[in-house]
Amino acid sequence: MTGALRGPRAEASSVDSTVARVISAAGCRDEEITSVIESAGPERVAGILVDEIVCRADLPPVELGEGVVVQLLFGHGTRTISHLVQAGPAGVTYEPGGAESPHARIEQDLCEAVRAVFGPHGDRAAATRRLELRGSDTPQAYVLPPTAFWVAQRLLATMDDRDEIGLTELASRYGSDKWGIHRYTQHYQHHFAPLRDRPLTVLEIGVGGLSGGTTGYRAPDKGGGSLRMWKRYFPRALVYGIDIADKRALSEQRITVLRADQSNADELHEVVEQTGPLDIVIDDGSHRSEHVLTSFTTLFPHLRDGGLYVIEDLQTSYWPRFGGNSDVFDSPTTSVGFLKSLVDALHYEEILDSGGRAPGAYDRLVKGLHFYHNIGFVEKGLNAEGGGPSWLRHPPRRRGDRGPAGDRSSSQPPSHGPR
Ligand SMILES: C[S@@+](CC[C@H](N)C(=O)[O-])C[C@H]1O[C@@H](n2cnc3c(N)ncnc32)[C@H](O)[C@@H]1O
Repeated sequence: MTGALRGPRAEASSVDSTVARVISAAGCRDEEITSVIESAGPERVAGILVDEIVCRADLPPVELGEGVVVQLLFGHGTRTISHLVQAGPAGVTYEPGGAESPHARIEQDLCEAVRAVFGPHGDRAAATRRLELRGSDTPQAYVLPPTAFWVAQRLLATMDDRDEIGLTELASRYGSDKWGIHRYTQHYQHHFAPLRDRPLTVLEIGVGGLSGGTTGYRAPDKGGGSLRMWKRYFPRALVYGIDIADKRALSEQRITVLRADQSNADELHEVVEQTGPLDIVIDDGSHRSEHVLTSFTTLFPHLRDGGLYVIEDLQTSYWPRFGGNSDVFDSPTTSVGFLKSLVDALHYEEILDSGGRAPGAYDRLVKGLHFYHNIGFVEKGLNAEGGGPSWLRHPPRRRGDRGPAGDRSSSQPPSHGPR
């Protein structure tokens, strides 16, 4: 159940460099955080935190007359910045401002709160945090805790990102077909969990529509389920989505949606000019082999070392309607045929000269390949361990040995020279 999130930044659509600076500083010393707060302005930084906290809390509508009001206060020097979060029957709203008697009041030093919300896990602290709950001075409140207690605890839990939700739950919550129609979330979690705490740049091709149908794909305000899933899963990531349909209205803090056709290399270059180097690319777009290959060859060079390039729905590689083929399994024009060629790139150092294979563009750049049903993960990284020792590659011949298959020497007559 998702509360209708309405706030000052809900319509933001441009790349937000302040958010990127806050996230980056959150992993540094207090002086760095303070410097960003000073240059961006404490009000702006407090607003970024409130947007993030409310988004993560994902509060359902509160079915109470006037709803629940929680005041969030952030102190910076002699200043205190106040926001009100209101959870009511129509969803959750927030805005700068104060209240005489809120149901709950949460107060924290702004610098410490930046680290709590956006810093790496081990660094998070709440030494300056104070919590006041209206009515908590009566024993009755503990027997029958008011809804405000629950709302405040959700906000607190999400401030420290203590409720680490898995991708399957997030896919269901935000309406991505990565779980349900497909079974991808388990594989994503396996590969993404070690990266969860990092300040990543994630790009997904294909924003989607809630219904999954053509209408939903074209509708400018439908889709974005997986983008919200990545945002919630990676608390320090900037998430970008591109789509051939104009879905830019789905942008929000930490999510930027751009319009681009994945089959057009020039448009993809323009996208990368905005995103900068990428840590994760997910191709969930047209699933046409030709488009998949154009996107891979264009975007893979912009993936950082240690980055992951994921291609979904590889079943289409066998379907002619998507430019695939069910007769020839190693065609370089199909997604799977191309990915198979990367297995050779991974082992380029082991291929004997006699193999006659020309050096490939990805030989030194692919350090791992992982395949599951209909989905593949390509791991980028220096692949230069060195081939096996020469005595293993070319074992000494014994009498009558015709040499390894494929070795040109196997077609030569056996040597009768001295051993
Ligand atoms: C399966 S949906 C994406 C679902 C979404 N990633 C999710 O998990 O919720 C595929 C999307 O790819 C988009 N698409 C189709 N062809 C494209 C192309 N050539 N370039 C970019 N996007 C494309 C469609 O408009 C559609 O929104």
